[in-house]
Amino acid sequence: MKPIIFYGATGQAKIMRPIAEAQGYTLVALFDDSPGLKSPFGDVNLYLGNQLFNFWLKIERLGAYRLAKGENTNLNDPIYGCVTVGNSIRSEPGSGRAAIVKKLSDVGIILVSLYHQNAEIYSDVTMGDHIQIGSHTTIGANVDIKNNVIINSHVNIEHDCVIHNDVELAPSVTLCGGVYIKESVWVGVGSVILPKVTIGANSIIGAGSVVTRDVPGDIVAYGNPCIFRRKND
Ligand SMILES: CC(C)(COP(=O)(O)OP(=O)(O)OC[C@H]1O[C@@H](n2cnc3c(N)ncnc32)[C@H](O)[C@@H]1OP(=O)(O)O)[C@@H](O)C(=O)NCCC(=O)NCCS
Repeated sequence: MKPIIFYGATGQAKIMRPIAEAQGYTLVALFDDSPGLKSPFGDVNLYLGNQLFNFWLKIERLGAYRLAKGENTNLNDPIYGCVTVGNSIRSEPGSGRAAIVKKLSDVGIILVSLYHQNAEIYSDVTMGDHIQIGSHTTIGANVDIKNNVIINSHVNIEHDCVIHNDVELAPSVTLCGGVYIKESVWVGVGSVILPKVTIGANSIIGAGSVVTRDVPGDIVAYGNPCIFRRKND
């Protein structure tokens, strides 16, 4: 058994737990920075905030390992992790997924990719590190996915798309062929992005949009056709 922690204790954690378990991981702890959250799982403790994260690393980690792996366990064993925090309307500086990835990597946690077993991924797809892929998602020929990307369930990514670091695609998004998605973009549920369109870094595409033209960075856009609505600041 391989012990894993999730940082982010809301919907994405619920989605990823069975996927992690199917890959042989055992969820041993959850972390989150949002005050007042409760653990979504009766059998896994949730630790809120930075101080508790540091406490857990020093004190409780060994106990969690022993629960997951038996008594012959020591603090040098690898610890795996996944940042189950989605993109959102801009988060505070230092609190988004990219910042949490850095925080966990800095203390030696090995961030892993978790793929639902029924996702269909073409053999020539290029994948970076720490990618989450939900159920019934198809990733087509010659797609290039960088690091720390969340691709939810029922997403359809056609041939030759490029998806940069820290992007999230919500459920049922369709990317037509040759779409180029830059860093930290969030594409809302059910949106369709037409062939060869580029979405600029840090932009949000609202749910149900049909994106017919390139979208600049740092904006919120939605609708059919998808148009500029406001700056994302
Ligand atoms: C685009 C989005 C981020 C905008 O959020 P926001 O800036 O807080 O916008 P508001 O909720 O203040 O809405 C502003 C107006 O835009 C409209 N609007 C918001 N999102 C819209 C969308 N996706 N399509 C069409 N109209 C939309 C609202 O009805 C409202 O209209 P009104 O001024 O006539 O009342 C959000 O609506 C959205 O689509 N989020 C994606 C949700 C999603 O896919 N989540 C993933 C779940 S797994």
